[in-house]
Amino acid sequence: MMKKAWWKEAVVYQVYPRSFMDSNGDGIGDLRGVINKLDYICDLGADVIWLNPIYKSPNDDNGYDISDYRDIMDEFGTMADFDELLEKAHEKGLRIMMDLVVNHTSDEHPWFLESRSSKDNPYRDYYIWRPEKEEGTPPNNWGSCFSGSAWQKCEETGEYYLHLFSIKQPDLNWENEKVRREVYDLMRFWLDKGVDGFRMDVINYISKTPGLPDGPRDADALYGNFGPFCANGPRIHEFLKEMNREVLSHYDIITVGEMPDVTIELSQQYTGEDEDELQMVFQFEHMGLDRSGPMGRWSKDRAKLSDLRRCLSAWQTGLSKKGWNSLYWNNHDQPRVVSRFGCDATEEMRVRSAKMLGTLLHMLKGTPYIYQGEELGMTNVRFASIDDYRDIESLNAWKEMTQQCGVSEAEMLSSLHWQSRDNARTPMQWDDTENAGFTAGTPWIDVNPNYHTINVQSQLNDENSVRSYYKKLIALRKAYPIIVYGDYTLLLPDDEQIFAYQRTFEGQKLLVLCNYSGDRTKQVCLREWGMEDAQLLLSNMPVNVDTNFTLEPYEARVYLL
Ligand code: GLC
Ligand code: CA
Repeated sequence: MMKKAWWKEAVVYQVYPRSFMDSNGDGIGDLRGVINKLDYICDLGADVIWLNPIYKSPNDDNGYDISDYRDIMDEFGTMADFDELLEKAHEKGLRIMMDLVVNHTSDEHPWFLESRSSKDNPYRDYYIWRPEKEEGTPPNNWGSCFSGSAWQKCEETGEYYLHLFSIKQPDLNWENEKVRREVYDLMRFWLDKGVDGFRMDVINYISKTPGLPDGPRDADALYGNFGPFCANGPRIHEFLKEMNREVLSHYDIITVGEMPDVTIELSQQYTGEDEDELQMVFQFEHMGLDRSGPMGRWSKDRAKLSDLRRCLSAWQTGLSKKGWNSLYWNNHDQPRVVSRFGCDATEEMRVRSAKMLGTLLHMLKGTPYIYQGEELGMTNVRFASIDDYRDIESLNAWKEMTQQCGVSEAEMLSSLHWQSRDNARTPMQWDDTENAGFTAGTPWIDVNPNYHTINVQSQLNDENSVRSYYKKLIALRKAYPIIVYGDYTLLLPDDEQIFAYQRTFEGQKLLVLCNYSGDRTKQVCLREWGMEDAQLLLSNMPVNVDTNFTLEPYEARVYLL
């Protein structure tokens, strides 16, 4: 029998502080900005705030390169601000989940400065150093996630260090027990302050296959893929169990591990109730469905319903007896869902498809995560020039693709319009005053010009807004345990337009119908599922009382019996 838990019933709201609210006019969002907007998050009904990294950082990768785990980034404020944020959040019944980035540090972290200085420095073994190959090439063929080799040579010793991400993000050596102790200590530092959990950055990358063998390389690829030797490596479960034993199990907290290349089978173990590892993982399968074309990660397709359904259904079923799902469409690394899986071509379709996608996700079994602005139906941004982009991944890829891979600038720009992480990072749209009310200064990244129509202020008191709809979705989860704990069954597995499923719990039945397409569907008949007497719980359009009906483009309905 599945155990009840507060983190299964919770809804998490993700705040990317840099782009959320700027309180002092320097163009960069900050902790005081988050404090000022706590009531907004409360009003939505969320229970937990996940804060992207706020630690001291040179900001090569917006805080994912940490130089001091026990201090706050200058631009974001001070530790006193953080303490105040935590206290005020707790007063309002909100919990705070921190980002824990411990696969790597900044190259400006004191450990790394020591480590690089000489081969016999006591910190040498905190990172992963290897000699150059005889041919004068890096230790292996791995490419970094942010373009180029995953190895960087250091003049001090002539050896290379591993960085799966940017050159300024050297990977920690988790084989070294001292490194693990340091990590557990810094986790306790924050937990003892009272934080309520961790979202663990690329946590399934911490155990690397010894020997660091060359990765498989596609015919036209510049580098080999480190995935098979870094993701879900040989000691990963051991490390997570140790972390759980040493730290996590001593606190009543929420944990979610970000895990590229994770499978359902592995997640059963990562999140299994008696495995003592984590509570949830962020899997990436549904985020990859539109990235399988020849342009790979930079593809410009909309995921097919059949793929999306197969994927999400498999995760629902796979973690139904053992484990627990996280549910997300968006975060700071992903394009905006309404532009990606919905339709932002017209205002009417934007609003309707944003609500449809919200319905599809929030009625599934798992803990939902909402990324700032998703509740407004914020869209991708289409910057006119590469100069407007800020994200290191996008900028490096631009260089590599246009200079080394024969992709034209126009083509790459349009790929960025689809897939750049900056789509998620434009400032939160609070109102229709200058810079969307985000800052009184010059924003560090431009606001999306559509803030005149899409903003908090215009949606707050509009009962038909996407924001009001998200509020309803959250309220329903609180009112109906079936949404949290009910079993999942897929319906209409072959339908070409409708994603349909049922949840069942203690004699109740919940039916969810979502038209993923931009065309009207053929007739559906509630009687087919024994739902003809069901009550309409939610819909994103005005609905006639009838048990046979067609669904309009992007229409969504939820029935309860
Ligand atoms: C994760 C983060 C991403 C970051 C990367 C390296 O994927 O979500 O923003 O760039 O890890 O830390
Ligand atoms: Ca600021």
